[in-house]
Amino acid sequence: MKRILIAGGAGFIGSHLCESLLNEGNEVICTDNFFTGAKENIAHLLGHPYFELIRHDITMPLYAEVDEIYNLACPASPIHYQHNAIKTIKTSVMGSINMLGLAKRTGAKILQASSSEVYGNPDVHPQPENYHGNVNILGPRSCYDEGKRCAETLFMNYHIQNNVKIKIARIFNTYGPRMMINDGRVVSNFIVQAIRNREITIYGDGKQTRSFQYIDDLIDAIKALMDTEDSFTGPVNLGNDREISIIELAEMIIRLTDSKSGIVYQPLPQDDPLQRKPDISLAREKLKWEPTNDLEKGLIKTIEYFKEKLKI
Ligand SMILES: NC(=O)c1ccc[n+]([C@@H]2O[C@H](COP(=O)([O-])OP(=O)(O)OC[C@H]3O[C@@H](n4cnc5c(N)ncnc54)[C@H](O)[C@@H]3O)[C@@H](O)[C@H]2O)c1
Repeated sequence: MKRILIAGGAGFIGSHLCESLLNEGNEVICTDNFFTGAKENIAHLLGHPYFELIRHDITMPLYAEVDEIYNLACPASPIHYQHNAIKTIKTSVMGSINMLGLAKRTGAKILQASSSEVYGNPDVHPQPENYHGNVNILGPRSCYDEGKRCAETLFMNYHIQNNVKIKIARIFNTYGPRMMINDGRVVSNFIVQAIRNREITIYGDGKQTRSFQYIDDLIDAIKALMDTEDSFTGPVNLGNDREISIIELAEMIIRLTDSKSGIVYQPLPQDDPLQRKPDISLAREKLKWEPTNDLEKGLIKTIEYFKEKLKI
């Protein structure tokens, strides 16, 4: 049995990871400051004898004896990470330093939830891990993008200088039950608008593409990455490489919810990437993994969750 710390464990991805690692017979310590996470996401785990919850902000040091650490703590949607940009940078930078310090002291292996946003608005498609990205240093998304980039740099340097065992996962758009209703992300926005029969808002002309990964695929991938040999640190892209335009996504959600919603178009926000598709050949090779959940089936499960939440 391993004792595993999940920072940001009450969030969307973190709560699924807590559940999955507990089901495999591990002891899980979940720590979260509940900025975007919710007790509701982990309420069903609270009575589990091997589950522990610590309310804590990772910009402050944390002391615990653990074997593995997953650092997922960071608001992930633009609405939330732009709410307090300085705090977002502090969470990525100071939070990583604190988690890496803990890994160094305890000898724990540590995984960083990095992001496809480290590639910014890419001029290379699809993006392999050795692409260095095109981030606007001063743009409205930079508190998140540059925070994640700096966190990767910190991880690599703790590995080189202090032999900390690190893993870096570059996560692409992930969706599924327990996403927040009001996070402004495209999947949750469209589903909520569709089930309420309200107009679906598309920013730009809808021809921009995204690739959407179902949560179960991501959980399998990050656990597989944690279990790779110590010499493999990543970074590794984790996502689904099926590309779909935003307009196609809107039409699919309207069909699956049997909605009467129409579509309205609004201007594209600054620095919004036009195309996003992961190159997951490294993940396929090193993790012996690939996404298996089909978009339509994943959306159906997510729609059910949102209907339940909205009591529709
Ligand atoms: N969901 C995606 O598509 C996606 C894509 C790329 C990367 N990621 C990364 O994966 C991680 C989890 O994302 P998510 O979608 O579950 O988002 P989320 O907002 O649901 O989860 C983040 C969790 O971290 C907690 N948190 C934030 N700041 C904290 C702090 N200072 N101290 C302690 N806890 C803090 C929040 O309360 C929340 O529970 C994030 O690091 C995010 O950047 C997510």
